[in-house]
Formats: sequence, C-alpha cells, structure tokens
Amino acid sequence: MKETAESVVVLDFGGQYNRLIARRVRENNVYSEVFPYTLSLEEIKKKNPAGIILTGGPNSVNEKDAPLCAKEIFELGIPVLGICYGAQAMAKILGGEVTHADVSEYGRTETEIVASSPLFDGVGGKTVCWMSHTDKIAQLPPGFTVTAKTANCPVAAMENGAKKLYATQFHPEVLHTDEGKTMLKNFVLNVCGAKGTWQTESFVQTSVESLREKIGGGKVLCALSGGVDSAVAAALLSRAVGKQLTCVFVDHGLMRKNEGEEVEAVFGAKGNFDLNFIRVNAAERFYSRLKGITDPEAKRKTIGEEFIRVFEEEAKKIGAVDFLVQGTIYPDVIESGLGKSAVIKSHHNVGGLPDYVDFKEIIEPLRLLFKDEVRAVGKALGLPGCLVNRQPFPGPGLGIRIIGEVTADKVKILQEADAIYREEIDNFGVAPELGQYFAALTNMRSVGVMGDGRTYDYAVALRAVKTDDFMTAECAALPWEMLHKTANRIVNEVKGINRVLYDCTGKPPATIEFE
Ligand code: XMP
Repeated sequence: MKETAESVVVLDFGGQYNRLIARRVRENNVYSEVFPYTLSLEEIKKKNPAGIILTGGPNSVNEKDAPLCAKEIFELGIPVLGICYGAQAMAKILGGEVTHADVSEYGRTETEIVASSPLFDGVGGKTVCWMSHTDKIAQLPPGFTVTAKTANCPVAAMENGAKKLYATQFHPEVLHTDEGKTMLKNFVLNVCGAKGTWQTESFVQTSVESLREKIGGGKVLCALSGGVDSAVAAALLSRAVGKQLTCVFVDHGLMRKNEGEEVEAVFGAKGNFDLNFIRVNAAERFYSRLKGITDPEAKRKTIGEEFIRVFEEEAKKIGAVDFLVQGTIYPDVIESGLGKSAVIKSHHNVGGLPDYVDFKEIIEPLRLLFKDEVRAVGKALGLPGCLVNRQPFPGPGLGIRIIGEVTADKVKILQEADAIYREEIDNFGVAPELGQYFAALTNMRSVGVMGDGRTYDYAVALRAVKTDDFMTAECAALPWEMLHKTANRIVNEVKGINRVLYDCTGKPPATIEFE
C-alpha cells in the first residue's frame, strides 16, 4: 500500500495491547501502523506522522538495557502520547524519575482528572481507567504538569501542552477504560489535528493503483479457501488486474453445506468478478486419503498435504506465474513478530503454502488490515454477505469436526445438522454475540426410539462460544427455546442422528474445535 497522507505511528515496547492501539486510532479513520520501538528517527521523519504513540511493555525503565526510544522523538514537534510503559519511558528520557510503586495497580481504577487537558475533553472529573503497572512516575520531567491521579498513583496522567507531549499511566486503548475511546479520539483528531479521511474506499483505490504498478503485465495465482481473507484478496486482485489473475479453489469436500457452491457462484463464470476461476472437486480424493485415519493431527496433516498436492497439480497446468497471493492479515503480521520479515502462516486457512509452485514473489494485499476492515473492503468490492461475514472456519474443515474416521456419509450427516443449527442461530438473532458456533459429529452411537422402532444412531454435539481472541473462550448460554427447536429439527430432518448434545465447556480446559 502507498504511504497515506495522514497516519499515527505506534512504537511498540512489547505491550499486550499494542495492536488495539492501532485499531482504536483507525476507528477515527486515521491510518495507524505498529512498528518496533527501534524504528529509526529517519524512518519516523520519512513517514511524517500526525502523531506518535508509545505503547506499554513488560519492562521497567530502570532495568539495565531497558528498551527506550531516542530523545529526539520528543523534539520533532509531532504530538506524542505515552501509554503505561510508554509514559514512564517519556518521563525517564525527558529527565523525570520513575520508581517502583509501593502499591501496584491492576484493573479498573477510579481516576480523578485534576487539570483541564485537550486529552480529557468531554471526560468528567471522575472516571474509571484500566491500570496495569508496578512502577510509577515519581517525579515529573521539567515542563510537565499532572493532569490525572488515582488513590495510589499521583501521576496517572501528565502533559507538556506547549510541546504536545502527553502520557497516561492507564491504558486508554482497552474497553475497560470507560472514556478511553474519547481520549484517543481527542489525541488523534484534536491534539494531532488529523482530519480522519482514511476510509475503506481510499484503501481500495490506493491498493488497486499500487497493485497495478507492481504487477504490470505479470501473471498472478491465488488459492481460494472459501474463507473471508482469501476471498477479499482475490476480489481486490481481480479489481486491479482482472484476467491476469487465476484463482484455484480446491473443494476438499469438507466445507459446510453449500459453501463450495457459494464460492463458485461469486467467483465462477456466472459471478461478477473478472478472473480465471478453477474449481477442483477433489472430495473423493480427500475421503479416500482419510480412510482409516482417526488421529486428529494425522487428519490435519493428511488434509494439508493433499491440499497442496491438488493445488500444485493445477498450478503446473497453468505454468510459471509471477506472483502468488496470500490472504495474510495484520494480526498474523503482528503475531509473527514485528521487525522480522513476515513469516507465512503455518496454519493458513488452506493448510499451508505450496512449495513447488513456480512463482517469483508473494503478494499480501491485506497485510495491514484488521479482520473487520477486511470485511469492510470485501463489502466495498461487492462480495456478498455470505462470504464476507463468515466466521472463522478451520483449514481442515469438517475433517476435524467429525471425531474419528471421516467418511462421505458422515460429512453429509454433519453438513445437514450444522446447516439447521446455523439457520436457527440466525432465526433467533443470536449470531452477533458469538465468536464461533458449529455442530460436530461425535463418534458415539446410542440407542433411541423413533416411531415404534429402536434406532442406533449418532449423537451430534452443538457448540457456541464467546471469545475475543480465540485463545480463551466461554460457552455461550443460548436460549433454551432455540436449542430445543434445533434439537427437534435435527433428529427429525437428519437421517442418522437420534441425539443432540450441547457442549458447555469453556476453553481452557477444552478447545474450541473438538479435535
Ligand atoms: P482451538 O480448537 O484450538 O481453535 O481452540 C482456535 C481457533 O483456531 C481454529 N483452528 C484451526 N484453524 N486450521 C485452521 O486453519 C486448524 O487446523 C485449526 N484448528 C483450530 C478454530 O476453528 C478456532 O477458530
């Protein structure tokens, strides 16, 4: 992407909320990117940012070799906001003093605004802020005044208004800080004077221009997985270079009901996108490779390897290409380590990167976007809701939602049950609260009675979780009426199932998927 006119540079000191800061800034339609704190002064100047934010971090500024940025950053005339460790770094570098706090503060903390500040415009005299620190600013640097305090923290916020330097000991970027969004908005729009012109449309336009410039007359290949990221990447590339793009969609027969058809309807010959679309119906191949395999990791490996094999076979037919498209998004980039070259996702939605495809360079057109921004770009490019609003779906698909051996029959049974479950979740309008929801086919058969006869059929398990990061999750309390109706429909409409269970476990100790 081309440099945007207006941006906020976030210098990362290793804090766990660093990407939330960029996220919050972007909510004000101002582009923001996270860089390692070691980003040179020259690089910062080149970016000509409207503002700089220093993040929190796990260190103490008093440690030997503590991570610190250059003093000159505060002399550029560019507004700076230091958050938590970033606040302490600012204090230390500019001649204040940081000491170990007698009382550490952790969690939501009553905070008093003690002086008027552009940062606290529209924030009342008392507010609740999220704290997480064991050091405190004990002495202000020259030219600074205290603007907020708490019972145990005499410098909860400080500033040098003349130099546009601001610092908060608390974290305005987390939602537990009641007025955090207002404070960041104040910093970005009022203090930095950003106009807030960064929008989805401008991203699409600048991306299309720079992709055209980069690709020239080259050939581009993209593996479509059916997931949001690869679909949006393909749509963007198609807008940029049309028929120079070939998309290969390997249908492994482990997608949810109708998903393969939905992908084809959008990208195939009858769809609205100008590209070469190849659908490989490889379900039988995958089922036959999966025969007799019951171990979850062995299934993952088999599906991943087979996917690559099928993709390579198709790629060979196309011949050498210049570029291979990856649907990497910003959280992947940040998680794979800032400052290092991007590591290709090992757990990419389609199960890995083909080693033997003949290409010169990888293109990652979404690498600076968060998931919801990717969805917005997808909508702006005309992708339908069924594709852009899709919840995360594992690369191995239903293969890891069928416990034990995968067979064509079991896939069919699970697809039907899962489709009913999803339909009822939509009917009851509970989807927006859920991080992920799906049906899984247990390997258990149990006795039931239907009509006057005995049945001995499978039990299907329903799962719905609430989660922000998929690292931890809690079981969602779905309306009983909805579960009851779903169970009724499944046992009546899906042959082969006579029992429906609801999984009430959180993660940990369970995982989200069953395998
Ligand atoms: P777990 O089951 O580990 O899932 O709690 C966390 C998130 O990761 C997804 N997941 C996968 N995604 N390939 C993927 O592309 C996989 O093998 C895989 N296993 C789990 C899962 O759907 C959830 O969103």
